[in-house]
Amino acid sequence: MAKALASFVCQNCGAAYNRWQGKCESCGEWNTLVEENAGGAAVPSSLRSKRKGRAFALESLTGDTHDAPRTPSGMAELDRVTGGGFVRGSVLLLGGDPGIGKSTLLIQAASLMARQKHRSVYISGEEAVAQVRLRAERLGLANAPVQLAAETSVEDIIATLSQGARASLVVIDSIQTMWTDTVDSAPGTVTQVRASAQALIRFAKTSGATLILVGHVTKDGQIAGPRVVEHMVDAVLSFEGEGSQQFRILRAVKNRFGPTDEIGVFEMTGLGLREVHNPSELFLSERDLGTPGTAVFAGIEGTRPVLVELQALVAPTALGTPRRAVVGWDPARLSMVLAVLEAHCGVKLSGHDVYLNVAGGLRINEPAADIAAAAALVSSLTNAPLPADGVYFGEVSLSGAIRPVAQMPARLKEAAKLGFKRAILPELTRGDGAGDAGLALNAVGSLTELVAEIAAKGKGKRQQIA
Ligand SMILES: Nc1ncnc2c1ncn2[C@@H]1O[C@H](COP(=O)(O)OP(=O)(O)OP(=O)(O)O)[C@@H](O)[C@H]1O
Ligand SMILES: [Mg+2]
Ligand SMILES: [Zn+2]
Repeated sequence: MAKALASFVCQNCGAAYNRWQGKCESCGEWNTLVEENAGGAAVPSSLRSKRKGRAFALESLTGDTHDAPRTPSGMAELDRVTGGGFVRGSVLLLGGDPGIGKSTLLIQAASLMARQKHRSVYISGEEAVAQVRLRAERLGLANAPVQLAAETSVEDIIATLSQGARASLVVIDSIQTMWTDTVDSAPGTVTQVRASAQALIRFAKTSGATLILVGHVTKDGQIAGPRVVEHMVDAVLSFEGEGSQQFRILRAVKNRFGPTDEIGVFEMTGLGLREVHNPSELFLSERDLGTPGTAVFAGIEGTRPVLVELQALVAPTALGTPRRAVVGWDPARLSMVLAVLEAHCGVKLSGHDVYLNVAGGLRINEPAADIAAAAALVSSLTNAPLPADGVYFGEVSLSGAIRPVAQMPARLKEAAKLGFKRAILPELTRGDGAGDAGLALNAVGSLTELVAEIAAKGKGKRQQIA
């Protein structure tokens, strides 16, 4: 008698073991192994066939191709992130913290699609039909011809969708609640999630429907359980935001049919998600003009320039080891900027706590933010306000030099549009072409130069209140 092969499956990464152990050797997580009756490597017995393989024709790369046919959802910020609309037969995974607005976003998208006369189906495994209706009513979407159901059986869902007109959009909210008969494990386990996703994806590919799976996210920001699902889908979108703030940012983590660096910006209101077409205005709206420790960074998100405020606080440390806390930026990048300030510019921060915050809940990944961060830090340390009408961008190298960054004209144009009068930027070399945005350009060659300029205006070190 052959024993069932591996029956303990890591709920984090999907690795399978034939006995229980505390730690998953594959992903390093503790206590993630759960016994599952997968009967092997999760290939359902109904799919295991005894027949020989069938030979099929191989094709060449050239030949009849049609462009991936896209259907714009009509929600510009969402279309920007997907790369111009939903591709027929593609599968998207939407992840995000609990309560961030995943269901809201998708019911809005489904309604827009339905109003364009596309068959659009919303299947909720978490909420009753009445709850989904209630939300739609609040959002003013009650009259959109979306087809609703509260279902969790994958077989039933596929049977229903196979009837009638081809569905253009199918939303499954969420994949963790789905279950299929082909495996015995409980809903929400890796084996179930993987098998359910497989069946639904196969349906999307054969029927040409665009499928959106909602995935829950664990505390550390990973799509819970179905990491495996990330590899099976065409695009992984993540919906982010700071709990206390109304801004929501949609980002593509992976996209087989479009770019991954575009962001969609929304604002959560009582009437649902409002698209924010000009994020700079939003991120700068509550600006403390001319307060020491704030600098405006002219960044680029995808193809769109976004101006955002960096806030720094540098204060003498009360503890033995100084704190470094950063929200919205790469902590390693902050450490590097601090090290360069210390090594090349004589700015001693080892006795200070350093806090750096990107306002508005935006997360930036660009090294171009280096000098904005440095300027904010030095400004806070020396209590010297930075010019309120200036923007900063430029990358700092380990030698302390300030290096040019990409898309300078776009950054300058956006800054001019929002009423800024000057830009503090890297020295221009031939070919960088800053364009003529009408801003005063204050080129700095090294971080030392920038620090000296700021410190000269300082009012001396902030006094400690005794
Ligand atoms: N009456 C209301 N007015 C304003 N905002 C509301 C109202 N009701 C709900 N919201 C917002 O909608 C959010 C819930 O959105 P939604 O249900 O789409 O989130 P979700 O990501 O699907 O959550 P879950 O992970 O629980 O499924 C709430 O956190 C709240 O911010
Ligand atoms: Mg939801
Ligand atoms: Zn694991």
